[in-house]
Amino acid sequence: MSVKRYGPADKSSPDEIRRRFDADVERFSNLETGQTSTVDARLAMDQIAIAATRSTPAAKHVLDLGCGAGNYTLRLLQELPNLNATLVDLSQPMLERARERISAVTSGTIDLRQGDVRELDIPLESTDIILAAAVLHHLRTDEEWESVFQKLVAALRPGGSLWVFDLVEHEHPAVEAIQREGYGNYLTALKDEAYRDHVFDYIAREDSPRSLTYQLGVMQACGLERLDVLHKHLCFAAFGGHRPR
Ligand SMILES: C[S@@+](CC[C@H](N)C(=O)[O-])C[C@H]1O[C@@H](n2cnc3c(N)ncnc32)[C@H](O)[C@@H]1O
Repeated sequence: MSVKRYGPADKSSPDEIRRRFDADVERFSNLETGQTSTVDARLAMDQIAIAATRSTPAAKHVLDLGCGAGNYTLRLLQELPNLNATLVDLSQPMLERARERISAVTSGTIDLRQGDVRELDIPLESTDIILAAAVLHHLRTDEEWESVFQKLVAALRPGGSLWVFDLVEHEHPAVEAIQREGYGNYLTALKDEAYRDHVFDYIAREDSPRSLTYQLGVMQACGLERLDVLHKHLCFAAFGGHRPR
């Protein structure tokens, strides 16, 4: 298997990423499976919905960052009905699909925000739960990662919680190679080697994931406490933390 290498300047721009997702709404509209190109997607979604609910039981508002077609908010609403929701995404077609699906199951308000999380103003202390599934890996530089985590933590009300499910890298190249190989085997078993190469190519072109340890460190530096890893398998991890009361 050979995956083309992309330098930082060749990576997809936010506009290219938006266009790809604009055309891919259907694939992100399956609550039963979540995204099949990610490992343990449904398990991670369940773990996050339940952990967010039990650790933030009085929540009234959820912010779903990179909401796609709304799977994570839909799953959370099964545990905590009628939350008010703010849905953020680069892609307007994704937001429209998310609103359609979520409005069918909640009497809470639904606020759509189309834009790049790096540029969006999110009001301070405006939400109890933040979900960020398969979106942060589109950030590039350390400055972007740190300022987005800061913005998210500042948007939490005291006692609120932030949950991430994402593609992650590993600190040691040998460990990264083992986990990538396992992920490649997963994709081959799901479809075939051509599909594996296709997924690996768009990851190389579009994504710049960071390690779980890096992200936990930034979350802690931004003031989150009681960090927990809910699940980690191959190149995917589900984790979160709480803003002190
Ligand atoms: C892989 S999908 C995941 C969707 C959903 N969270 C889920 O798990 O089903 C990533 C979503 O993030 C959005 N996205 C990517 N980069 C973004 C950015 N910088 N700001 C806001 N949304 C972004 C994409 O448009 C896409 O809908």
